[in-house]
Amino acid sequence: MSGKSPDMAWLAAHGFGVVGVEISPIACEAFFAEHHIAADRAAAGPFVRWQGGGVTILQGDFFDLGGKYAAALDRGGLVALPCQDRYRYAQHLRSLLEPGGVLLLVTIEYDPARRSGPPFPVFPDEVRQLFPGAVERSRHPLGRARWTAVGGADAVVWVMRVRRG
Ligand SMILES: C[S@@+](CC[C@H](N)C(=O)[O-])C[C@H]1O[C@@H](n2cnc3c(N)ncnc32)[C@H](O)[C@@H]1O
Repeated sequence: MSGKSPDMAWLAAHGFGVVGVEISPIACEAFFAEHHIAADRAAAGPFVRWQGGGVTILQGDFFDLGGKYAAALDRGGLVALPCQDRYRYAQHLRSLLEPGGVLLLVTIEYDPARRSGPPFPVFPDEVRQLFPGAVERSRHPLGRARWTAVGGADAVVWVMRVRRG
């Protein structure tokens, strides 16, 4: 659920082979346009594969993604989903990580009585249930007016490593 996140360009520039999954063709096109990359586009099973500049975006449904990956970055994915969809999402995301693989997850926390999602607040107990072994690495307050207006919000970064064997 990569959207047109600039994180993909940053990761590619730092030597990672990046695969994003995104359902919106508009976001796929916007990513490559904004980075001035002429992308190749081809059908790839249930996906349209956009490729260029070290970044692949599979345009389609995240739940159709297979394969194994050494690492995953979820920023704005889990928190885009209502509570009832998060378990299925987390199970699928975990299934895509190879043994020893790492998940970097960014969540948001705010008072749900003050605002409704998305993004939905996902609190530590739920993160630990969805991603056993996840460890909170950092948190920082979000300074934008839309968050201060609802009493504040924190962005929280989690790391989970998949056990080997
Ligand atoms: C809140 S945005 C986050 C985008 C990006 N990760 C970021 O940090 O900017 C969530 C994205 O998930 C995409 N999305 C929603 N459901 C999806 C699905 N089932 N498969 C793939 N992408 C999906 C939406 O189109 C949207 O671009």
